[in-house]
Amino acid sequence: MTKWTPSTWRKKPAKHIPEDYPDIAHLAEVEATLKGYPPLVFAGEARRLKERLGEVALGNAFLLQGGDCAESFKEFHPDNLRDMFRVMMQMAVVLTYGAGKPIVKVGRIAGQFGKPRSSAIEERDGVTLPSYRGDNINAMAFTPEARTPDPERLLKAYGQSASTLNLLRAFSTGGYANLRNIHKWTLGFVGESEQTKKYKALCDKITDAMDFMEACGVTPETTPQMAATDYYTSHEGLLLGYEEAMTRIDSTTGRWYDTSAHLLWIGNRTRQLDHAHVEFFRGVENPIAMKISDDLEPDELLRLLDVLNLQNEPGRMTLISRFGHDRVSQGLPKLARTIKSEGRHVVWSCDPMHGNTLKTNSGYKTRPFDKILTEVKNFMQVLHAEGCWPGGVHFEMTGQNVTECLGGSARAVREEDLSSRYHTHCDPRLNANQALELAFLIAEELGSYRKEEETRLAG
Ligand code: PEP
Ligand code: CO
Repeated sequence: MTKWTPSTWRKKPAKHIPEDYPDIAHLAEVEATLKGYPPLVFAGEARRLKERLGEVALGNAFLLQGGDCAESFKEFHPDNLRDMFRVMMQMAVVLTYGAGKPIVKVGRIAGQFGKPRSSAIEERDGVTLPSYRGDNINAMAFTPEARTPDPERLLKAYGQSASTLNLLRAFSTGGYANLRNIHKWTLGFVGESEQTKKYKALCDKITDAMDFMEACGVTPETTPQMAATDYYTSHEGLLLGYEEAMTRIDSTTGRWYDTSAHLLWIGNRTRQLDHAHVEFFRGVENPIAMKISDDLEPDELLRLLDVLNLQNEPGRMTLISRFGHDRVSQGLPKLARTIKSEGRHVVWSCDPMHGNTLKTNSGYKTRPFDKILTEVKNFMQVLHAEGCWPGGVHFEMTGQNVTECLGGSARAVREEDLSSRYHTHCDPRLNANQALELAFLIAEELGSYRKEEETRLAG
């Protein structure tokens, strides 16, 4: 393989990186400024996440990755961050209980701004403008000025990522995440839903268990895992100029790390073997992920892994399956079989969002809850049948009470409700109740695998 540097991607064809900046010199100046800014994450943290994902790859832990489709400057508010953190913590409690395994928590947060769009242009009433591509590139308003890429937006996105991460670190280690607070994580949830009732009942059981453990001397004071949590950040590594600027040599190991997030993923539209995104990500040591779908043949997947995970290191690569509820059972088995027979270590994760998007007659982009659930179930069953560990899920979700995805059993969102709280800057997200409901349903499935395993070991 040819020599890698953080800028070798520039010689390769690149998709979904905007080229229509009116002033390229200005973009270069901003990138040079970013190169001098502090790293957002520390290489040691990225290594720790890789180790934890290594445990997921080996079947000893479960990955919960979730957050906005696209973060925005407008929705940036501490309450929104707290609500997202809170619902992920609740889901993690439910999943830990069901799976009987540690949950690795990764937010689509603190950097998830840029979006690949299916069309580069948008037409409204005979007027054509460049598409909105995320707040770090252009603005959403349908005017030529708003849609023109502005490099200064990268600096603003960096600043927002830094303060977001600061608050997330405070939540994780400053007392909020203490397991003694599990009951408090429901406060602020709108009303009492079936999910919150179930969650409270589970908290009662856990609290009883903690009281017992405390009597035995195991407390948050003696056991730091009970007093704090690990929470990691991730985003799609789309804008390689930004990622290059954030890539630094780690003084401990002398290796390159992309310090914009702990984990970066390659999107479904940018995973071509000989293109820029694969070139960039082969050279950084972070744990990475890649979206996969039914246009990927087993051979090509192996070639991608040869480039992106040369050492076959467990935890380096997460494959995020996003086929669609009706296609996953058809497309996934052959990939799973190949990975298993070749002895490749990967984390198998399921994104049940991006293959299940539809447009309603009234023009809303939405996703039906039952299709999302069906995709997760089919994903888990396929992998279980192939003898692989269905190691994780990847959701577009929010802690807010939005009406963007249809259905769910607690206060089901109907088509006529979509317009009432449809706030997303890109794709429709699960609301807090829907996200928690999914966690319960996944926990049930994981619980049944656990029982099967216990019976097998006992027999
Ligand atoms: C996304 O995760 O928001 C996304 C664009 O997904 P995909 O690359 O799978 O289409
Ligand atoms: Co999306």
